[in-house]
Amino acid sequence: MGQGPAPRTNASVVAVKRIVLGVSAGIAAYKAASLLRLFKEAGHHVDVIPTPASLDFIGVATWEALSANPVNTSVFEAVDTVNHVRLGQEADLVIVAPATADLLARAAAGMANDLLTGTLLATGAPVVMAPAMHTEMWEHPATIANVALLRSRGVQVIEPAVGRLTGKDSGAGRLPEPEEIFAAVAGHLDAAAPPKGGSLAGKVVAISAGGTREPLDPVRFLGNRSSGRQGIALAKAALAAGASVRFIAAHMDLPAPTGVELSTASTAEQLQVAVTRAARGADVLIMSAAVADFRPAEYLGAKIKKSDDHADPVITLVRNPDILATLMSDRASEGPAGSLPRLVVGFAAETGDAQSTVLEYGAAKLARKGCEMLVVNEVGENLTFGTDENAITMLFADGTEAVHAAGSKDHVAALVIEAVAGALGSVAR
Ligand code: CTP
Repeated sequence: MGQGPAPRTNASVVAVKRIVLGVSAGIAAYKAASLLRLFKEAGHHVDVIPTPASLDFIGVATWEALSANPVNTSVFEAVDTVNHVRLGQEADLVIVAPATADLLARAAAGMANDLLTGTLLATGAPVVMAPAMHTEMWEHPATIANVALLRSRGVQVIEPAVGRLTGKDSGAGRLPEPEEIFAAVAGHLDAAAPPKGGSLAGKVVAISAGGTREPLDPVRFLGNRSSGRQGIALAKAALAAGASVRFIAAHMDLPAPTGVELSTASTAEQLQVAVTRAARGADVLIMSAAVADFRPAEYLGAKIKKSDDHADPVITLVRNPDILATLMSDRASEGPAGSLPRLVVGFAAETGDAQSTVLEYGAAKLARKGCEMLVVNEVGENLTFGTDENAITMLFADGTEAVHAAGSKDHVAALVIEAVAGALGSVAR
């Protein structure tokens, strides 16, 4: 069945890959049609394997028309070509989008009761899952355990987005937009694969970036001026050094870089969940996100109106969790057997004042947060935020002498990643 890979028109530009696109039975299956389009437009060969139940959402005709390939769901169709083994064996990448809680459970259990799960067992290709389900299902201990098991076997499980779900629900569990999934798997498809012999080859680096937003009402939020540029530059530098990058994006002015495993978060509390998940099993965590320290005590479901009595509204704030400090104390209580990274890097956006200099504040923060490294930069109206330039000082908890760096955010990122690679050598697992 199927066509051979499309002819290679220009080997240096298009490296045609064979992709298996698995679709399980979630309402978000419609987004997989756009994802398929993106793969096809990039010139790849795609075999779609829907689960039988998913055909209630999108039928075989749609998948056959969009992929230009025959589509089967059962191991008892096209038996002569031994599809359940062949498709997995030939694939360069298997991506399941949406991956329901049921699909994750069956994959984690190694079941093979339809063509998609059979393919997942037979393939030696990288496997990526893009889960989509209601928040309660995503946060159920069974799903958390299944995701952890799949990740421990090397499956890339993309964090679901936070937002509107089916019905009235809203929360974590939304299938990321097709463009985001495409960007998250691009590293497997790029003609020029990242160097594997770099200083972070074989290492997993989790990087948070951007700024959180704390909603006041459906149209207003408390936010900050972080653009995400420095975090994006760090991700690119880590990829260039050969690392696998888990990128946790809060709000950013620019799209996430290609080639990373992307998850998104809006508020500090959501970022805490996403960062903690991504950090588990990683070698390094770099917290470059600007996290709101406070959030409105109350979220008003309807827009706040100017009141008739002209009274000035009062917004009461409560403290957000300190993601970095909590992670450090969790790591300490888990001990050497824990799975949190041994090397944790904080960022400190500081302004000096009459009492202390930027670096004095930085040194105090390094001690307070308890992480291994702190990248300190001076912030202000026209400094750092939203610009392409940065000047930083890296401070090290083990007493290594501070390192200053200045230049473009890409240059600074390369120096931070170089320091991270050096520091990794001295932290015990
Ligand atoms: N951070 C965090 N959780 C927070 C606040 C900050 O994990 N609630 C992280 C940031 O990602 C950064 C580091 O802590 O890596 C320092 O952030 P910064 O805003 O400079 O420090 P704060 O802890 O907020 O201290 P303060 O604002 O009082 O200087």
